[in-house]
Amino acid sequence: MTFKEIREKFIKFFERHGHTAVPSSSLIPDDPSVLLTTAGMQQFKPYWGELDPEQTIHPSIGKPVGKNAVSIQKSFRTSDIDEVGDESHLTFFEMMGNFSFGGYFKKEAIAYAHEFLTKELGLKISYVTVFEGNEAMGVPEDKESAAIWKELDPAIRIEKQGMENVFWGPTGASGPCGPTTEVYFKNAQGQDIETWNLVFNEYFYPGSREELLNSAPGKKLEKLKTPGVDTGMGLERIAMIVQEKKNIFETDLFEPILRAVIEIQGDKPIQQIRLIADHLRAVTFLIADGLEPGIDERNYIPRRLIRDAMTAHYLYIGAGIDINFCVDPVNTIIDIYRKDYPYLLEKREEIISIIRKETENFSKVLKLVGNVLDLKKQYISFSTEKKWPEVRSGTDIIDLDGKILFDIRQSIGVSWSQMKMVIEKEGFELGDKVLTEYDEAYKKHQELSRAGQERKFGGHGLLLDTGELKAANEEELKKVTRLHTATHMLQAALRQILGQEIYQMGSDITVERLRFDFTFSRKVTPEELLQVESLVRRKVSENLPVNKTEMPIEDAKNSGALTVATAKYPPMVKVYSIDDFSREVCGGPHVSRTSEVGEFKIIKEEASSTGIRRIRAVVSP
Ligand code: SER
Repeated sequence: MTFKEIREKFIKFFERHGHTAVPSSSLIPDDPSVLLTTAGMQQFKPYWGELDPEQTIHPSIGKPVGKNAVSIQKSFRTSDIDEVGDESHLTFFEMMGNFSFGGYFKKEAIAYAHEFLTKELGLKISYVTVFEGNEAMGVPEDKESAAIWKELDPAIRIEKQGMENVFWGPTGASGPCGPTTEVYFKNAQGQDIETWNLVFNEYFYPGSREELLNSAPGKKLEKLKTPGVDTGMGLERIAMIVQEKKNIFETDLFEPILRAVIEIQGDKPIQQIRLIADHLRAVTFLIADGLEPGIDERNYIPRRLIRDAMTAHYLYIGAGIDINFCVDPVNTIIDIYRKDYPYLLEKREEIISIIRKETENFSKVLKLVGNVLDLKKQYISFSTEKKWPEVRSGTDIIDLDGKILFDIRQSIGVSWSQMKMVIEKEGFELGDKVLTEYDEAYKKHQELSRAGQERKFGGHGLLLDTGELKAANEEELKKVTRLHTATHMLQAALRQILGQEIYQMGSDITVERLRFDFTFSRKVTPEELLQVESLVRRKVSENLPVNKTEMPIEDAKNSGALTVATAKYPPMVKVYSIDDFSREVCGGPHVSRTSEVGEFKIIKEEASSTGIRRIRAVVSP
């Protein structure tokens, strides 16, 4: 069975059982507290308790989803990034999932999974896990799931596990969560592989997963108004099981990509080839969803992926790097996915040119590192824009300094594992001394950046409160604050000119520009854009005060303050208003008078996805 057949079977199976098929949402989530989309449930988060899935129009299908949904979601997890190259870890993957928002619960969810796996895919389950219960959290043992499995298959092996493994979520700053039951299969090497995770969302937790696991004071699991089901099964992994392959990279999905990489790499050690295949696939999708290699938190991810792929390439080719090394693999990747993600085809040129540009820049850096580590040189120091650390090597014993290695790694942005390989390739051995020094430098750096973060945002405040704002220093903070107020004014103007049916679907602010996604069914005409722009400009010139008041969320909503449908608000919120022009629930910060926003200009209007438009705008420097 090909991976395409598995995809199709999955969607059809759940459609037959009364689920609405919903396309994958973007890898860049609406939820500002989540860096990238990590699971299929992300786009449905508000349906467990906040939005009515039978009333709310889902933007990508143009009608309500109803109580049950099925999707195959583009997902990205950084958690395993250092493992990529082995047999089963990936950064980007597609997650197949069925969901219920107050429709069915454990009995049906487990029965569907059992039927799909054993009948549709013809597999034999190795064992399943269920939640053992946690008294301190007030969550009982999941005896019900165990009984349901036994009824379907009296011989099935059931293992009980705890919070770490079989209690899922929440994602981001808060959200639905609950006990899970997971299904394991043996792969062709006889190892047990976790494949399908069935989460029973019974609870809402008003904090992050980390807080939940550490029993953060004052935060407790609350029963969800709309309990339901959230399941997820990685397509790549199940394809490996179905196709009886020893690892993911031998499936029909990865095999052509590996071949395209090998064509330029030659028949070189497999870990590096797998890493290149995984990373280029991830980068292709990330760039297509709007990321570009850069230094802010999100854009650093494609940068790191490209640089690691390049380093892998360098490790075997040497310093003479072919800046076109990405072209064949990326074309192959796009060909594999063009049917399911047709937009990849439109973005082909853009994706390749962005990767190529990053490759070109980075090849210069890599060459420098190669020189830095060159055994023949005794004392070398480099200076690029930043001051390069001096590396000293003795005559017989190579005296590498772990702190210096850390600094180099920081400034060029590759992973430590890739960097270590470059160093070893250059003939250095990394002894305990160097590794200890490196670890110390790393820990120190982490402490410093945590302290910096707390100073800037007063503990973990701002990110959770406002989400879309990020700034590295005071100057940036000023700029993004102006753009933030401009975003509110833009939304108000859009609603005034185009109608009150406009709702915010996403917002992203960088030092350069604001980006605002909103519901609207057609292209906004140039005349309308001009009207919107002039209205914002007029309000800026009126120098209106921006007022902030605090009130309970219910009062805020009743007073007509706009909220973001997908956001979860605390009981007390801040409302920012500008005269009777704009009124929004928001964590801030904002400028105090509109004239501070400066000259406002819309630079682009385009489709973001079906039923959602996207505007980019700037303010004067
Ligand atoms: N959200 C769960 C997971 O990602 C199930 O979809 O594993």
